[in-house]
Amino acid sequence: MSYLRFAMVRGMVSAIPAVMKKGEGLPRTQTDLLAHAVRELPLPSGGALVFAPVGDAAGVDLPETIRRCAPRRQATFAAGRMAALEALRKAGCQDVTVPGIGGDGLPDWPPGWLGSISHSDDAAAALVAPDGCARLLGLDLERIVTAETAMQIASEIMPEQPTGRSGLPLEHEVTRAFSAKEALYKALYPLTRQFRDFSAAHICWQKDAPGAPVRVMLTLTEDWGAGCVAGTVFEAIQRTAAGHVATILWR
Ligand SMILES: CC(C)(COP(=O)(O)OP(=O)(O)OC[C@H]1O[C@@H](n2cnc3c(N)ncnc32)[C@H](O)[C@@H]1OP(=O)(O)O)[C@@H](O)C(=O)NCCC(=O)NCCS
Repeated sequence: MSYLRFAMVRGMVSAIPAVMKKGEGLPRTQTDLLAHAVRELPLPSGGALVFAPVGDAAGVDLPETIRRCAPRRQATFAAGRMAALEALRKAGCQDVTVPGIGGDGLPDWPPGWLGSISHSDDAAAALVAPDGCARLLGLDLERIVTAETAMQIASEIMPEQPTGRSGLPLEHEVTRAFSAKEALYKALYPLTRQFRDFSAAHICWQKDAPGAPVRVMLTLTEDWGAGCVAGTVFEAIQRTAAGHVATILWR
């Protein structure tokens, strides 16, 4: 959403390969760090989660609508598509091509596959799974906002509760709430085709053991359609690394 995009503080990342391989030592780039941080998150069976750096758009045949966009948008789109292509390959999708743009701006996934793409100005990611292994899935990647921005947007992102309940620093709490709700929306929209704002789900923070994936429970406050009724609870799992929060949500 454009009114939230302005709130994100952007950094730069060099175009070094994203996926850390065995024996290569410590992760060095933002995308390495993100990939490393999420490596043990539980994914749907047969699924894959891949990060890619945002560099330039070279190497991706951009759709006409994206070619007319600013270079930054071209670059984030291309990085998201590179991550999607790699995720589909990693998950074993045969004869894979770069997903086009489908209805409502959703990626045009190959038949039999579900997926979700997210990007900041620095990094992109894609989560995919065979559609028999998940009914819905959502991915969100957000650069952590400043404390000042967090104060400004907190009541809009979390109208259901005052800040401070998570025990996290304000900027982490608000970014995580925002990312969890965006991942929820991105998981549900392809099913429901209905817009919902940030009051349409309530956050409940889970206190995880140190080192464990951090979980956030989201309860729908209203019916979203497609059988997703008020009171339905979804679990989002998050990791924070390289100045970003990554959220996955699937079932
Ligand atoms: C659609 C929306 C979720 C995108 O989030 P964002 O942080 O701006 O952008 P991200 O990088 O995470 O995701 C963008 C990608 O999501 C995908 N996407 C676009 N619209 C989508 C939708 N309605 N549902 C699911 N995925 C969508 C696309 O792949 C897009 O990337 P691409 O255009 O390069 O292919 C956001 O703009 C929005 O409308 N949010 C308001 C709704 C909301 O979050 N409500 C909270 C309910 S509790």
